[in-house]
Amino acid sequence: MNDAPLLIRAYRATDLPELRRITVESFGSVALEQMLEHKFGVWNTRDWKARKADHIDDDVVACAEGCFVAEREGELMGYVTIRLDRLNGKGRIPNLAVVEAARGLGLGRRLIMHAIDFMREEGMKIAQIETMASNAIGQHLYPSCGFEEVGRQVHYALKL
Ligand SMILES: CC(C)(COP(=O)(O)OP(=O)(O)OC[C@H]1O[C@@H](n2cnc3c(N)ncnc32)[C@H](O)[C@@H]1OP(=O)(O)O)[C@@H](O)C(=O)NCCC(=O)NCCS
Repeated sequence: MNDAPLLIRAYRATDLPELRRITVESFGSVALEQMLEHKFGVWNTRDWKARKADHIDDDVVACAEGCFVAEREGELMGYVTIRLDRLNGKGRIPNLAVVEAARGLGLGRRLIMHAIDFMREEGMKIAQIETMASNAIGQHLYPSCGFEEVGRQVHYALKL
């Protein structure tokens, strides 16, 4: 195991291709986009990986200053993205991932706590995060970081 420190730093535009790669690699079984593909197949010649990776582009366009990456010896090991709704004082974590090789070491928790600190510093009063019912890790990790369950959502889709 590599004992070099894992540092969390601000996102840089040059990180984007690697964040897209980590996203596709990490979200395999837990992405709603993949569930849509399982149910309805591929449409518009764009698969779930292309759509899911695009979510990260959207995050950095919406709030680049709220994107943070975890790095070990120059290698990206994970990231967290944040959106800020300043009018309503609400922050949200739309995406979070840690590469398989670095999981279970507390990095996901560190990224979440970093995001919470950032939202607090930015004056947010509420922080939100969601997870799929099938994501057992999220349902363990988020409450253990202080998040409380407030509601459940069901996703529907119709092929047109
Ligand atoms: C979610 C994710 C970011 C967590 O990263 P990580 O670095 O492994 O997280 P941590 O090591 O900080 O914590 C993982 C926690 O989940 C627990 N855990 C691991 N497998 C679990 C399982 N199958 N069921 C329940 N809890 C589990 C660990 O024990 C640990 O909890 P602990 O600190 O109380 O012991 C990572 O698993 C990931 O990238 N998953 C795929 C993408 C994803 O699901 N993103 C979030 C979308 S909502």
